[in-house]
Amino acid sequence: MYRVVVKKYGDPDTLEYIKADSERINNKSVKIRVHACGVNFADILTIKGRYQERPRPPFSPGLEISGKIIKVGKNVSNHKVGDLVMSIMKYGGYRSEVIVPSENTYKVPEKMPLTIAAGFPVTYGTAYSALVTKAKIKKGEICIILGATGGVGIAAIEIAKALGAKVIACGGDDTKLKSCKKKGADFVINYKKNILRNELARINAKEINVVIDMIGGQSCLDSIKSLKWNGRLVIVGFASGTIPDIPANRLLLKNASALGLYWGELAHRKPKEIGKDFLKLGNLYKKQLINPSNHKIFKLKNANKALNYLLERKNIGKIVLEVK
Ligand SMILES: NC(=O)c1ccc[n+]([C@@H]2O[C@H](COP(=O)([O-])OP(=O)(O)OC[C@H]3O[C@@H](n4cnc5c(N)ncnc54)[C@H](OP(=O)(O)O)[C@@H]3O)[C@@H](O)[C@H]2O)c1
Repeated sequence: MYRVVVKKYGDPDTLEYIKADSERINNKSVKIRVHACGVNFADILTIKGRYQERPRPPFSPGLEISGKIIKVGKNVSNHKVGDLVMSIMKYGGYRSEVIVPSENTYKVPEKMPLTIAAGFPVTYGTAYSALVTKAKIKKGEICIILGATGGVGIAAIEIAKALGAKVIACGGDDTKLKSCKKKGADFVINYKKNILRNELARINAKEINVVIDMIGGQSCLDSIKSLKWNGRLVIVGFASGTIPDIPANRLLLKNASALGLYWGELAHRKPKEIGKDFLKLGNLYKKQLINPSNHKIFKLKNANKALNYLLERKNIGKIVLEVK
């Protein structure tokens, strides 16, 4: 088997693609022949040693994969050899073969191609937890998505629309925002060019029920000023590089809540609940209410190019690595 490996923390170009021995499974694990791996923003931070998870080199990055089960441990009852699955892990996905606990392995939704399933768990799982588990979004509510042009953002647009919310997608690039419109956003706002509050007034959406924030910084602070009574802000990421100091008085005045989401950790603490979320997402997929897609596919051995592409912000949504 082959793996992409970090031998020393650094930039994507320090990654190596090497041949490695196949490993033995334990009683509760499954061995999967990987079809494709999802690429995430967190992978860049992990290989630099700047993520919450700080594995010691040498290690392979990668939070999610899809593939076919080729072996199951003695105590595994929920999966069998031949099943098409997607798995999540804290790192270690950039390999042609992985061994994963069976509880973190889920059936691929019916009729979903493996190349799509590889990039589905983290973005759609995170967006679903943010909107449903945390914000408890209701039909007819108004939702702002900050960082709507990224993988999690696009998933959040689709899910919020499928649940009957009105969606305002916010990003910093007009071309990318056009894609958000195609994915179903009711309105788009470029927060680099315009003042968020003014734009909300222009589209007659002065008060917002739910904010899903992947960006942090000034956009987050601006959105808090527009929260409605009982509004909910879900903190998902800080892609702007700035962690906002959230003004508690604003939350108090609107009887509002700020909620943190660390989906990767949640998924390992509550694997069964995440499995239920995937079943619900699978139903939305079956009914064609969500339509996950990949922006670009790279080969596993070119993982460095994929990560540089993400770093240069060229992606609109998901990138995956195919094992060929
Ligand atoms: N809490 C969790 O459990 C969890 C789970 C998944 C992801 N995340 C985090 O959520 C964030 C988004 O993840 P993703 O997978 O959607 O990433 P992605 O596909 O790479 O998208 C990144 C998004 O961030 C925006 N962005 C990038 N750099 C920026 C900057 N300097 N200033 C403002 N906006 C910037 C991009 O917008 P434009 O290029 O359009 O401006 C794009 O919308 C990341 O920080 C990631 O670590 C958290």
